[in-house]
Amino acid sequence: MVYHIPWIYVPVRSALAIWHQLTKSEIPELAKASVLMRDRSRVETTIQAMHRAGPDALQVISDFDMTLSRFAYNGTRCPTTHNILDNDLLINDACKKRIRELLNIYYPIEIDAACTVEEKLPHMVEWWTSVHELLIQQKIRKDLLALAVEQSSAMLREGYRVFFDHLQQQQVPLLIFSAGVGDILEEVIRQNHVFHPNIHVISNYMDFDQSGELQAFKGPLIHTFNKREGALLHAAHFRKLRERPNVLLLGDSLGDLTMADGLAHTQHTLTVGFLNDQVGERRESYINSYDIVLVKDETMDVPNAILNYIAPAPAK
Ligand code: TMP
Ligand code: MG
Repeated sequence: MVYHIPWIYVPVRSALAIWHQLTKSEIPELAKASVLMRDRSRVETTIQAMHRAGPDALQVISDFDMTLSRFAYNGTRCPTTHNILDNDLLINDACKKRIRELLNIYYPIEIDAACTVEEKLPHMVEWWTSVHELLIQQKIRKDLLALAVEQSSAMLREGYRVFFDHLQQQQVPLLIFSAGVGDILEEVIRQNHVFHPNIHVISNYMDFDQSGELQAFKGPLIHTFNKREGALLHAAHFRKLRERPNVLLLGDSLGDLTMADGLAHTQHTLTVGFLNDQVGERRESYINSYDIVLVKDETMDVPNAILNYIAPAPAK
């Protein structure tokens, strides 16, 4: 129909072109070859709306393992929070062997593109439950956790300091929602000197007895594909942030997309997914699920550039 009313069509077209140009020049990182988007104009419209609303309307929700932490460094895999516990200080050889066997059985299921979430669910519960039982049998000592983290090769993604410091400076709340081990992820962040007061963590926390030995895990189990249920259980946290209807969500698993489900009311949500592994097999499902997909990108460059635009640091 626009064909008959060109005087409307033309200004709308050029306004859109200017809009697209603006985001392109403000966030050149989005033009990188590793950045994939199903609907670039939706991304741009969302970013513009979040930019107009500013930092006071924003909250960030992020997964931890392989999202805030690196997947690999110089071609070698970096450990998840569970894998950091694979240390002589904490567990014996038989336990290490069994935990590695479980990883080799269940990790391929976790990332299998041919398998539905419903099919994966019982396997994930089995994996987490078995590993947690093994760890409890080892009576892991609380006072050795910091040393195990120090000795590990865990790394936060390149550009992490800018990310954490920027959110703290702008007083934007950061919820870290992890199916990993809460005590360990806190320690990783602390040892990198970015555990700021704007951070809230939902994760699997260890429960130590009076002598400091692991006796259980606290609360309901969180695994990669039940974050929705976990989010609903933490409704009180989300209620406190109801004045912040805009969400930047970062994850590396499709299960991470449910991390904001505890929010009763959102206005604009932008989801960014790190596609670290099995890229060919999972590319399509990631593009269909996340607004922005970052392929084998070990940096925080894109989230940082987006944040710099929607919640800019005050001019000095
Ligand atoms: P995330 O929610 O912070 O990403 O943490 C979950 C990751 O932990 C998930 O990708 C699988 C991984 N994991 C291990 O590496 N080893 C284990 O023993 C278990 C149970 C999970
Ligand atoms: Mg993860």
